[in-house]
Amino acid sequence: AKKSSTSPLNAGKGGEPHQTATGKPVLTTNQGLPVADDQNTLTVGPRGPQLLEDFMMREKITHFDHERIPERVVHARGYAAHGCFQAYESHADLTAADFLSDPKKKTPVFCRFSTVAGSQGSHDTARDVRGFAVKFYTEQGNYDLVGNNMPVFFIQDGIKFPDLIHSVKPAPDRAFPQAQSAHDTFWDFVSLNAEAMHMLMWIMSDRAIPRSFRMMEGFGVHTFRMINQKGESKFVKFHWRPKLGTFSLIWDEAVKIGGADPDFNRRDLFNAIERGDYPEWELSVQAFTEEQANEFDFDVLDATKLIPEEIVPLTPLGKMVLDRNVDNFFAETEQVAFCPSHVVPGIDFSNDPLLQGRLFSYLDTQLSRLGSPNFHQIPVNKPKCPFANFQRDGHMQTEVPTGRVANEPNSLDDGLLREDPKRGFHSHPSDEAGSKLRVRPESFADYYSQARLFYRSMTEPEQRHIAAGFAFELGKCEEAKIRTRMLGHLQNVDASLADVVAESLGMKGQADDISPRVPVQDVDASPALSQYAKA
Ligand code: HEM
Repeated sequence: AKKSSTSPLNAGKGGEPHQTATGKPVLTTNQGLPVADDQNTLTVGPRGPQLLEDFMMREKITHFDHERIPERVVHARGYAAHGCFQAYESHADLTAADFLSDPKKKTPVFCRFSTVAGSQGSHDTARDVRGFAVKFYTEQGNYDLVGNNMPVFFIQDGIKFPDLIHSVKPAPDRAFPQAQSAHDTFWDFVSLNAEAMHMLMWIMSDRAIPRSFRMMEGFGVHTFRMINQKGESKFVKFHWRPKLGTFSLIWDEAVKIGGADPDFNRRDLFNAIERGDYPEWELSVQAFTEEQANEFDFDVLDATKLIPEEIVPLTPLGKMVLDRNVDNFFAETEQVAFCPSHVVPGIDFSNDPLLQGRLFSYLDTQLSRLGSPNFHQIPVNKPKCPFANFQRDGHMQTEVPTGRVANEPNSLDDGLLREDPKRGFHSHPSDEAGSKLRVRPESFADYYSQARLFYRSMTEPEQRHIAAGFAFELGKCEEAKIRTRMLGHLQNVDASLADVVAESLGMKGQADDISPRVPVQDVDASPALSQYAKA
């Protein structure tokens, strides 16, 4: 499990390394030329002008000048490790995905945790959603489960994502992060999007300040499909459960640690793996039929809703262990490209409009972030099974395909690549019909019932933390109209929560009247969602 190499970039690759008289590998230029002096620029006389001729100095500085690539537009600050996934038993009844059908198979994985809003240099303990992205290098191609540590999301449709993110990122004029100064843009946006209420309960809860990546749950969020060899399909929701249990910081700790040790979470993961204390997660699904889905009082295509485990319990599938830190942060953690559309036969999408938006966004952004359509050739992104097609050329092409044919069908060479209808990926042939519209389904209209379910499922200390979270955040809003609007939404979630927050803000009786479009359901105060109840 230990790191493979400490050797500098490319030393000696492709032949016998140059060696110094003392047997050390020799520093070379990018052309392999041994360097005699890496300390002094070429000059005319010891105190004279520098020479443009100094190609070694120019190569070194030019490369340095181009070291940075754009950071991710979201989830810029992340930390990752390698590991492996193994199914407990065959799940062939559920899915044709081979990494889930053979308990003997160990599938290599790469897993990156992240915060969403902060830049690369922000601190680990900010109140935020955490990304939980796993790349499975399966024998049927790479499968990416690009999830978060919360089971729901702020918005129901991908077209709103740029607005959501602009509202939390630094303001265009002053460029300080909203999260540390005026909170107005974020709270303005979410208070005008009632669908965000359920996610706001999660984000104001302790879940938004995890104590450790090793103590964090993960969720696929959307409804996906699993399809078995017979073509039978079920809907699924993905869950990761940490072996260590789910634990959080409290706000005061998060603030102090954020100042004292901005690398708190990444250091914890790195150190745990270095000392052989390998973190583990269990992967489960909630699997249900389309007929069951039609009976729920919410829409499974709405990413602001979860499926209570009382209705659909978890089916454990297997275990992931992270046991190797990266050799190089940039090459692996920065250059890794996760993408929700990386699926394998046996796993497919649903019509969730947020998921469908994501299926477009990731490849598009990675083309500009990584700068080339050949970024799948970077080792961390490369499938570990054979892959080949007739795509060719482009920036940074490193493969050397041979032969004259780069098209198919072709009849010029029988040895060339062919489609495989039997083992290849087929989209699930679901029946779809309807008018072309821009309209939100009526089944997405209940914005408050699950927010209420979440709040009332919390233990008393957790409820206090949620109220304190709202009071702190809204207390940073300069515009009173945003605060009264948010208090109006909280009234619809839970009147006692709204009262505590209003009291803390000195705004009792000042909530706007926001009428829910559909009746808010009174829900059971089951503690199923409370991390403390489970721990
Ligand atoms: C990263 C877009 C919703 C989880 C990203 C990136 C983009 C993006 C552009 C940067 C990717 C890169 O540069 O490599 C979107 C859009 C969404 C959306 C348009 C809504 C339509 C979500 C949701 C989740 C999620 C709902 C969780 C289920 C992640 C994660 C990463 C990420 C974990 C970081 C991946 C990594 O570690 O590199 N997203 N996202 N996103 N997104 Fe989303």
